[in-house]
Amino acid sequence: MALFSIRPMREDDVPQVIEIENRIYEFPWSARNFLDSLRAGYDLHCFLLDDILVGYIVMMQVVDEVHLLNISVSADQQGKGYGKHLLQWGLSRARMAGLEGMLLEVRPSNTVAKALYDNQGFKLIGVRKNYYPARVGREDALVLFKRLGQGLDIAA
Ligand SMILES: CC(C)(COP(=O)(O)OP(=O)(O)OC[C@H]1O[C@@H](n2cnc3c(N)ncnc32)[C@H](O)[C@@H]1OP(=O)(O)O)[C@@H](O)C(=O)NCCC(=O)NCCS
Repeated sequence: MALFSIRPMREDDVPQVIEIENRIYEFPWSARNFLDSLRAGYDLHCFLLDDILVGYIVMMQVVDEVHLLNISVSADQQGKGYGKHLLQWGLSRARMAGLEGMLLEVRPSNTVAKALYDNQGFKLIGVRKNYYPARVGREDALVLFKRLGQGLDIAA
């Protein structure tokens, strides 16, 4: 059985992160986006399977909430529960830091991510019109929020 671990992202992880990012997104973050996030002190972590980097999560604290800026699993490791694990880890981390909730944006067309957030108890709180670049024109963003109460972040 593969052993997984989660550790802070380093600048020298960025080339591997970009390789994953470029394969799974039509409009990926650039290396500069990751480096700037690291230097700005955002919360970036890598998910490793047997020491191989297969996912990552980027969070940013804004006052008493955390914004989920990026959560990704490499194309060949998707659908095995790792994204859910990484999200639950992020939720627990935010709760332990005493934060009140997690906010995120997702494309309406991203059915897998929407199902993941829905299962984890995120609620729709708004829509940002024409937020994302798209193949034709732009796509709205759904704004989702999950309040962090007491207890564990296990799926309902
Ligand atoms: C979204 C992402 C992080 C989810 O990680 P994952 O490891 O693939 O997902 P998991 O195996 O942990 O599954 C989590 C949930 O997603 C949903 N899901 C997973 N695969 C699915 C599929 N093929 N179809 C529909 N829903 C699916 C399910 O609700 C699942 O929960 P369940 O197993 O309790 O039913 C990953 O697919 C990814 O990196 N996608 C591309 C990048 C991206 O879209 N990131 C999010 C941007 S907002």
